Amino acid sequence: MERNRLVIAIDGPAASGKSTTAKLVAQQLGYTYIDTGAMYRAVTLAALRNGVDPANREEVEKLAFHLSIRFQPQADGSLRTILNEEDVSREIRSQEVTKSVSAVSAWHGVREAMVQLQREMSKEGGVVMDGRDIGTVVFPDAEVKVFMVADIQARAQRRQVELVGNGKEMLVEDVVTDIERRDQLDSSREESPLRKADDAVEIDTSSLTIEEQVAIVLNLAQNVREKRISD
Ligand code: DC
Repeated sequence: MERNRLVIAIDGPAASGKSTTAKLVAQQLGYTYIDTGAMYRAVTLAALRNGVDPANREEVEKLAFHLSIRFQPQADGSLRTILNEEDVSREIRSQEVTKSVSAVSAWHGVREAMVQLQREMSKEGGVVMDGRDIGTVVFPDAEVKVFMVADIQARAQRRQVELVGNGKEMLVEDVVTDIERRDQLDSSREESPLRKADDAVEIDTSSLTIEEQVAIVLNLAQNVREKRISD
C-alpha cells in the first residue's frame, strides 16, 4: 500500500451523518468512497426481485455470492450503484428495500460475500468506507476509525430531508420508528453487529454542521499521515 493512502473507516447507526461525511472526506482527499450499506441494499433488491424471502438464509446467501456489485463514480462526485450491470441507485433506497435490508444483511454468507468485495475494492488503500462493521470486522487495522452517533431527532430530521429530496413524503414519527427498528436489528444480530471499535473516535454529530464533521475526520487523517512521515 502506498505510504500516504489510508483506509478511513466510518461506522455508526442509520442516519448518523456517515455517508455525507464519508463522501466529502473522500472528495477532499482524492480517495474512493465506498458505501457498504448500498451493497447490502443491492443484495436485498436482488432478493426481492427474484422472489427470494429475506428470511430464507440458504437462498439469500446463494444469491449474494452470484451477484456483481460495483460502484461508478460520477463527475459530480456522486456514486452510482451498479447491480449486474444495471444502475440501481434509486431502487435501493425504496421503502421495500429499507424494510428488508436488516434481515438480509444479518446472514453470515451475505456478509462474507460483501466483506470479500469490500476488501478487494480497497486493496490499494485510499478509501473512505462507511457502514456498521468497517472498523471492527472489515478493516480492524484501518488507520482512521470513526464512530458517528447523533440523537434520534437529529437523525430523523436528516433522513426526512433526504426523503423529501427524493420526492418521498413520510411522517417524522414513522422515520423515527423505522430508524430505531433498524438500529435495534443491526446492533443485536449475531454476525458483525453494529458496534464501536475500541480504538474508534466517537463523534456526536447532533449539533455539528457537515463542514465540522468533515473537518474532524480530515484532521484525524492528517494526524496519521504526519505521524507516518515523522516515524
Ligand atoms: O447505511 P445504510 O442505511 O444504507 O445501510 C443499510 C443496511 O445495511 C443497514 O440497516 C444494515 C446493513 N449494513 C450492514 O449490515 N453492514 C454495513 N457495513 C453496512 C450496512
